[in-house]
Amino acid sequence: MARKDLLDIASLHREEIEFLLDQSTSFKQVFTCSVKKVPALEGKSVLMLFYEPSTRTHTSFEVAAKRLSAEVTNFNVAHSSVTKGESIRETVETLQAMRTDYIVVRHSRSGLPGMIARQTKASVINAGDGAHAHPTQALLDAFTIKEKFPDPRGKKVLIIGDILHSRVARSTSNLLQKLGVEVAYLGPGSLVPKYGPETIRRFTDYDAAMAWAPDVVYLLRVQMERQDVQFFPSLREYHRLYGITTERLEEIRQRGLYIMHPGPVNRGVELCDAVMDYERSLINNQVENGIAVRMAVLDWLTPGGESPRSEPTFGRSAAPLPHFTA
Ligand code: CP
Repeated sequence: MARKDLLDIASLHREEIEFLLDQSTSFKQVFTCSVKKVPALEGKSVLMLFYEPSTRTHTSFEVAAKRLSAEVTNFNVAHSSVTKGESIRETVETLQAMRTDYIVVRHSRSGLPGMIARQTKASVINAGDGAHAHPTQALLDAFTIKEKFPDPRGKKVLIIGDILHSRVARSTSNLLQKLGVEVAYLGPGSLVPKYGPETIRRFTDYDAAMAWAPDVVYLLRVQMERQDVQFFPSLREYHRLYGITTERLEEIRQRGLYIMHPGPVNRGVELCDAVMDYERSLINNQVENGIAVRMAVLDWLTPGGESPRSEPTFGRSAAPLPHFTA
């Protein structure tokens, strides 16, 4: 089925996910060619609309679009009429008049990419909206795990940290479960929501979580910018209770576990420096795979159609999420 937009993981069928991951494998082969470019999106235009900071997602979408031969325009929010009070609707209508084919959008408001998708014929890709979704991060995480475990069914991924505020935890756990991976959460009780899928185990104690025998330890960034109240006593205490310390890294090494992190990392909080040199750290693999996955997504979407109605959905038992404004 052709799709106009990619707004979340929840609405993706397993077959679509498998297709995108297979396509990512093909696109990754382009990286090793002497000319790292294919003509798939020749004559198409991609607009990057980032209202929140980004290094990996922004750069890899730009590289992905260019490797597909698309033209890329970066909308610089800080130097745009947004600073003069221009609304998002007006910005999008203005950009729509320029007949862009794809809009890659990041915003602090959950659901905003869906709202833009309904206003425009362009294909809209959610590059992260509030605490709602980060679908391409989930795809690149799954792709990275599948490189190590080609059949990931029954493998166990322990996601550690600030689950409450994390669009990555939400999207990645959703996608991994669709692939038959077992997922568990570990973190302070204040940051591990009790609502959400019952199939996800919850832990607040590190040793109990490691006794669950994960294959992959997935660390989340502590998002200080999204915490208007203190969710744990101090960063030092967080590191002591949930961080990958040098002692814990040694145990992880002996057990042969993989470590992942979406970046950017807070060294000394989620992990100690030595994790970055750990032979089973997949953090740089995630970054490289982000380009292949985003090439597959751009190539797959079909601009020009109507966007089906899509709102952030958090499951029947979900409590309201924190609301973030720009
Ligand atoms: N993982 C991720 O979204 O990183 P950036 O904020 O650097 O894009």
